[in-house]
Amino acid sequence: MGTILVAYGSKEGQTEKIAGRIAEALAAHGHDARTASVADSDVSEALADADAVLVGSSIHVGAHSKPVYEFVREHRDDIEARPNGFFQVSLSSALDDEDARAEVATYLDEFVEESGWHPERMAAFGGALRYSEYGFLTRMMMKRIAKGATGDTDASRDYEYTDWDEVESFAADFVEFVESTAGTAAGGAAV
Ligand SMILES: Cc1cc2nc3c(=O)[nH]c(=O)nc-3n(C[C@H](O)[C@H](O)[C@H](O)COP(=O)(O)O)c2cc1C
Repeated sequence: MGTILVAYGSKEGQTEKIAGRIAEALAAHGHDARTASVADSDVSEALADADAVLVGSSIHVGAHSKPVYEFVREHRDDIEARPNGFFQVSLSSALDDEDARAEVATYLDEFVEESGWHPERMAAFGGALRYSEYGFLTRMMMKRIAKGATGDTDASRDYEYTDWDEVESFAADFVEFVESTAGTAAGGAAV
């Protein structure tokens, strides 16, 4: 049993919600889990206190969250010193076609290349369309994108595409990974 930090960068709240669900699953597996936005003033302290770390980032206009990049660049050594993993949240992950799958893979590759961090575990989850959170122009743009993607263009409601079973199994896999590294010389964290 040890402390696992789930740090996230989220604009409209879906990545934050997923981070919360992951933390609940980690706790159900007997770990002390806490979530923190990468923009929180005490996130560095939370990382220093953690025995393992997950980082989540949403995609906007083809790119990962800037604050997540900043967090990872600033703390790469501390992240790599612990069992670590990354999850990405996007609309593309909600789509079941070849182009979307290629896009999801490209986002992950770009993240690794631009951050210089090679996460030990990675996952990509479908996000949400939160029309209620968008301003006028973003709502228009997202309606247009949704028309050619999920088809969900009724902006009077929100849509959620996250597969919670996938989220739970990622959390369970991460627990197994953390516990398997705990007793090895390489995985020095006392988890
Ligand atoms: C302005 C905007 C741009 C987006 N651009 C992309 C994109 O380029 N590719 C994609 O797959 N999803 C895109 N999305 C979908 C988001 O990744 C999705 O809504 C996700 O749930 C947002 O996570 P968050 O609520 O944690 O910020 C975009 C969403 C918005 C609002």
